[in-house]
Amino acid sequence: MLEPLTQIGRDAATGGYVRDAWSPADMELREWFAGEAARRGLDLREDRNGNLWAWWGDPSRRPGVVTGSHLDSVRQGGAYDGPLGVVSAFAALDLLRERGGVPASPLGVVCFTDEEGARFGVPCMGSRLLTGAIRPERALALTDDDDGDTLADVLARAGRRPESVGRDDETLAGVGAFVELHVEQGRGLADHGRPVGVAAAIWPHGRWRFDFRGRADHAGTTRLADRDDPMLPFARMVLAARAAAERRGVVATVGKVRVSPGNANAVPGHVVAWLDARGAAEDDVRALVAELAEGHEVSEESWTPVVGFDPALRDRLARVAGGGTPAPVLPTGAGHDAGILAAAGVPAGMLFVRNPTGVSHSPEEHAEQADCEAGVVALADVLEDLCR
Ligand code: GLV
Ligand code: MN
Ligand code: MN
Repeated sequence: MLEPLTQIGRDAATGGYVRDAWSPADMELREWFAGEAARRGLDLREDRNGNLWAWWGDPSRRPGVVTGSHLDSVRQGGAYDGPLGVVSAFAALDLLRERGGVPASPLGVVCFTDEEGARFGVPCMGSRLLTGAIRPERALALTDDDDGDTLADVLARAGRRPESVGRDDETLAGVGAFVELHVEQGRGLADHGRPVGVAAAIWPHGRWRFDFRGRADHAGTTRLADRDDPMLPFARMVLAARAAAERRGVVATVGKVRVSPGNANAVPGHVVAWLDARGAAEDDVRALVAELAEGHEVSEESWTPVVGFDPALRDRLARVAGGGTPAPVLPTGAGHDAGILAAAGVPAGMLFVRNPTGVSHSPEEHAEQADCEAGVVALADVLEDLCR
């Protein structure tokens, strides 16, 4: 099932995927999802926030057990971050059908919209809107910084109704429990020598926009003393972020920067840089950002507090998914829709599939076929257990 997805949104030059929310590639992926739902006779619904739900059974009669992930990607991402969870969800449902019987609870497969926030800057947009974790007015006004289009414009162009987005209690009421399978984005399982693990917690994390303003000028004729070059405070911030992260035992990344006007022969007039900071302890992350922000123009684009997954569900998943020996339980520095649902009070948990190198958000991301298959079996076991 992963195979037909391999050409969608792929950059032939790099082998990386570019699957921005609501882009042509995303629309193709959404069609693929609808096709997989139809092939299985599932009832397909798109909620008011663009999330896709494929149901076996009727969640309005009794809350269901839901599994799935997302199909969008970071720019130049890998093949597994998101799609592995959606493909495994359909495959686990197939396996349950092969095993026979109809689950007592409805079973849903979900594809959350815009998990990465690659286009509008805020991650987990579909699950945040669904649960009311972001105000609709704020979400709709966010802009794609390549072309300035707002999310409202983009939704309208995709034939959706921007005025309908926002907290959706009716859809949420159908979700009795949520389990997201995901490729691991570190080497925890490789170190344990196990193909499948369970998430313990998601680190608190956020994104901050720094605006460094100066004055554009000629690169040859402007004396050094006369320059107001915003590249210099930007460069100092990047180095300070690394030093502060080491000192505080957290991680900090500047992975996106926009230099205007962008002439090789001119002092820039404006540098915009995005800081991503995460760590086990919220106070350390907050302190790092406060330290870096001192004296600069900074705005917080997103913040996700620490998520500790429901301990009873976590232990149940570890027992059932471990196939005899409880699966390892690992924290993660990556954000997920499961974390947003957990924060909204939905019993939620995650399964991780081993990533031999730990590399992710890169075309190099990989998982072995046998481990993916073990993930599907573990997910089917977990769903069967939860649907009882
Ligand atoms: C999502 O993948 C994130 O953690 O940035
Ligand atoms: Mn990701
Ligand atoms: Mn993901």
